[in-house]
Amino acid sequence: MIVKADKKRLAVLVSGGGSNMQAILDNTLSGNINAEIVAVISSNADAYALIRAKNYNIPAFVCCLKDYSSPFERDNYILSILDKYRADYVLLAGYLGIISQNLVKKYKNRIVNIHPALLPKFGGKNYHGLNVHKAVIEAGEKRSGATVHFVDENIDTGLIIASQGLDVLPGDTPESLQSRILNEIEHKLFVSVVKDLCDDKIWVENNRVIYKK
Ligand code: GRF
Repeated sequence: MIVKADKKRLAVLVSGGGSNMQAILDNTLSGNINAEIVAVISSNADAYALIRAKNYNIPAFVCCLKDYSSPFERDNYILSILDKYRADYVLLAGYLGIISQNLVKKYKNRIVNIHPALLPKFGGKNYHGLNVHKAVIEAGEKRSGATVHFVDENIDTGLIIASQGLDVLPGDTPESLQSRILNEIEHKLFVSVVKDLCDDKIWVENNRVIYKK
């Protein structure tokens, strides 16, 4: 795969449908994001995201935790792919795996996750998929949304880059809230952050996110 020298090289980690990955992909192809997706890595062999990657001839890999002796070993394999494809940034787009220290260290401030809630609330080990939205509704929250953040050693605790909210509506179910957040917020928010990241408008200094809009 030949990538123009000034373009950033993105690796995308996925586990499911890959609609966020598709939004990023569409925007790299249109030229809105100055980058190319050079590899897709899935923790789930049946992820639809893998079919999306194949449709665009993007090198795609499966790394199921059960095939490795530990998350550390799995992430060593992921690191070997990132090195081979010389990834500048790693995007977690609906990736359900937990990133090990070896990967976080090597790609410090270069791994970005999108989380479907307003962090720091409703983040952490058990907050993924519909669980997040169920918890938001059960807590009687008036607002929810999505957050894009750098990935650190813990789950959903890394430095926040940007977030955007919407109203939780009376009668919202976990499914309806998930769908509105995904379609009304996540795709656009992730695209705008990744675009700015690839234009060198976002970086970390003294443990703070600098965002030159
Ligand atoms: C999104 O809600 C994302 O925030 C979360 O998992 C979901 C994945 O959706 N981490 P998709 O695979 O991008 O369609």
